[in-house]
Amino acid sequence: MLFDTRTRVDVHVVQTGESYPCATDESLLRGMLRLGRRGIPAGCVNGGCGVCKVQIVEGEVRALGPVSRAHVSVEEEARGYTLACRAAPVTAVRLEVCARLAKPFTRAAAPAASAVPHRPTATTKET
Ligand code: FES
Repeated sequence: MLFDTRTRVDVHVVQTGESYPCATDESLLRGMLRLGRRGIPAGCVNGGCGVCKVQIVEGEVRALGPVSRAHVSVEEEARGYTLACRAAPVTAVRLEVCARLAKPFTRAAAPAASAVPHRPTATTKET
C-alpha cells in the first residue's frame, strides 16, 4: 500500500516523553513498533507475556481481544490498565508503562559524596 490513509491519533508515552501516531485499527504496541520506536516494551505481541502492560492515564482505548487475567486483573482494568498489544486507541492517549517496565526509564539518585565509601586505589607492587 503506497498511502496509508487510516485514521490516526496521537499516543504519548509519559516515561519517555515520546509521541507517535497510531491508527485506530491497530494496537498501541503495533503502531509504535511500525515506527521503530521502543517506548513500550514488546514481547509476544499477542497478549500472552504481559510485558507491554500500560496504564491509560488520558484518552480512550478499545480492546482488540481478550486480556489475560494473569496480567491484568478486573480491578486493574477498571483503573485503566491494559496490554498495549491488545488495545487500539479511540482518541488521543497518554499512557504510562507499568512499574516493572518503568525501571529502565528511571535513574537511581547518585549517592552523596560522603556516603561513598573510600576505596583505596590499586597499587602496583614493585619487584
Ligand atoms: S507483548 Fe506480550 S502481552 Fe503484549
